[in-house]
Amino acid sequence: MRTGPLAFLLSASMLAAPLWAQERPAGLAGSGVEASARANSAERPIRWAQAVPAGASLIIPVAAPMDLAKAAPGLPAETAAAIAAAAKAARFEAKPLSTLKLHALGGHPTILLVGVEATSKPKETALSDAGGKAIQALRDEPDDIAVLTGGLAPGSAPYVAYGAVLGQYRYDRLKSAAKALPANPVVMVSPDAGAQSAYERDLAHLAAAIRFARDLVTAPAGELYPESFVAAVQSELKGVPNVRITVLDEAQMRRLNMGSLLGVGQGSRRPSRLLAVEYRGGGSAAPIAMVGKGITFDSGGISIKPAAGMWEMKGDMSGSAAVMGAAIAAAKRGAKANVVAVAALAENMPGGNAQRPGDVVRTMNGQTIEVINTDAEGRLVLADANQWVIREHRPAGLVNIATLTGSIVAALGEAYSGLFARSEDLAARLTAGGVRTGEELWRMPLHPSYAEDMASEIADIKNSNEGGRAGAGTAAHFIGFLTPEPTPWAHIDMAAMDRAESDLPTVPKGPRGYGVRLLDQLIRSYEK
Ligand code: BES
Ligand code: ZN
Ligand code: MN
Repeated sequence: MRTGPLAFLLSASMLAAPLWAQERPAGLAGSGVEASARANSAERPIRWAQAVPAGASLIIPVAAPMDLAKAAPGLPAETAAAIAAAAKAARFEAKPLSTLKLHALGGHPTILLVGVEATSKPKETALSDAGGKAIQALRDEPDDIAVLTGGLAPGSAPYVAYGAVLGQYRYDRLKSAAKALPANPVVMVSPDAGAQSAYERDLAHLAAAIRFARDLVTAPAGELYPESFVAAVQSELKGVPNVRITVLDEAQMRRLNMGSLLGVGQGSRRPSRLLAVEYRGGGSAAPIAMVGKGITFDSGGISIKPAAGMWEMKGDMSGSAAVMGAAIAAAKRGAKANVVAVAALAENMPGGNAQRPGDVVRTMNGQTIEVINTDAEGRLVLADANQWVIREHRPAGLVNIATLTGSIVAALGEAYSGLFARSEDLAARLTAGGVRTGEELWRMPLHPSYAEDMASEIADIKNSNEGGRAGAGTAAHFIGFLTPEPTPWAHIDMAAMDRAESDLPTVPKGPRGYGVRLLDQLIRSYEK
C-alpha cells in the first residue's frame, strides 16, 4: 500500500469505486487512477399499488380493438372517453408494440398507450417487450409513472414490470457530466394481490442479474479483469444462503496442471482465475454445470487482432457474465435446483511471456494441444474449466456459453446463437428456453470430419484449422474432444450476442446481458 498524502486520496476514491474496481492487485497493473468513482445513475424503482394514483403519468397496455373499460377498469369514464377520442383521431390501432403518447388528459401529464396482442395467454416476451418499449418512450417523463395492468391476463403484471426494469438500463457512470434522468417510481397498478410478491420473489432477481451481467460486459477491461470479476461476483452474493464460492488462483491451477487455461493468460500482467459458484437448492441431485468463457480482454495475443473493432473484445467475458448472472438469480430466488456456474477467466495479451503460435500446452486431464493460433483462446480456457468441473462436481449435464467464433456471426447473425450438443435432452431444454425467452438457438452440426480438420501432427489436437472452414463447428468439436464423456454436453456460441447494435424493447443499444434469461430457463427446467 502507498503511504503519504496520496494514500488517503487513493483509498477514499477506491471505497467509492464500482464494486469490481475496488480490489486492486498488490502489484499495480495499470495507472492506478480510476476513470470514475461513481455508480450508474438511479433507475426508476418499481412500486406496486391497487388503484390508479392521481396526477401520475400513465402507461396503458391496450389490445385491438381498443376497449378502455377493459384495458383500464380503474379509469374514470370521462378520462377513458377522452383517451379513446384522441386515439381515434390519431388513427392508433393498438398493434403490438405500437405506442401513442397523449398529454394532459384526466389530470395525467402524459398517457402512453402501448399495443399488446389480444390473447388470453400472452407470451412472457410480449409482456416484457411492452413494458420495456413503454418505459423507453417515457424516458424523460419527470412524473411518477403508473402502469395500468388491470386489463391484462392474470399473472401478466410481473413480466411488464420486469421489462420496464430491463428497458431503462443505462451505463452512464463514466460520463463526467451525465444528463440526469428522472428516477420517479414506476407504480405497477394491479388488482392481482399476488403480483407484487411474485415479482419481488422471482423476476426482480432475474432483472437485477441481467443488469449485473450488462455492467460486466460494458466495463472497460482496464477495470474488469479476472480478479475484479471475481470480486464483483463475491460482492453480489454476499450473505446469499446455500452458495459456496471457490476461486482457483494461478498457483492452484498450476498444481492441477491446467496448462490450457494458464497458457492463455501468461502474456498478461493480470493473473488468471477460475471462479466457481455452487448453489444448492435441489437436495441431493447432481448439479447442472454452466461454464462460461471469461476472457476479460481478447487482443488475440501474439496472433494479434486488427485494430478496428478490437475494443469490443472487452466483452469477450460475456459467457462468464451469463453463467454468473443465471446462478445469482437462481440463488436469490431460491431455485429448487442444484447449479454450479464456472467462469474461466483470463486476459489474452501479447507480452514477453505470452504463448507463441506453435506452442504445445496440456490440459488438466493430460491431453495435449498445439496452439496454432493464440486468438483461438476461448476454447483453451473452456477445455480446462470443463475438465475441472466434471472432475470436481460430477454434473448431470454441462453447458458451455462463449463468444467463441466470428464464424457463428457470419452464419447466424444476431437472429440466433449457435447450439452444438451431444445430448438431445440438453438440446431440447435449451432450445425451448430460447423460444420462451427470445434468446433463440439454432442447432449446428458436430460432424465427425471436424476431427480430421483439427488433427495435429505433434499433439493430440490443434486449436485451429488455419483455413478456418466450419470455424464454429471445428471450435465446438475441439471443446467436445476435451470434455470427457459420458457427461451430457452442449455448447452455445453467442459471439454475435454480447451487444445489441440498436435499441430493442428490453435491451437498449449496448450490452444485452445475453444468456442469463436462457440459462435461467434451463435451471427452471430442472426444478420440480
Ligand atoms: N472472441 C473471439 C470471437 C469473436 C469474434 C467474438 C467476433 C465476438 C465477435 C475469439 O476468441 C476469436 O478470436 N476467434 C477466432 C478463432 C480463429 C482464430 C480460429 C475467430 O473466430 O476468428
Ligand atoms: Zn475470444
Ligand atoms: Mn480470440
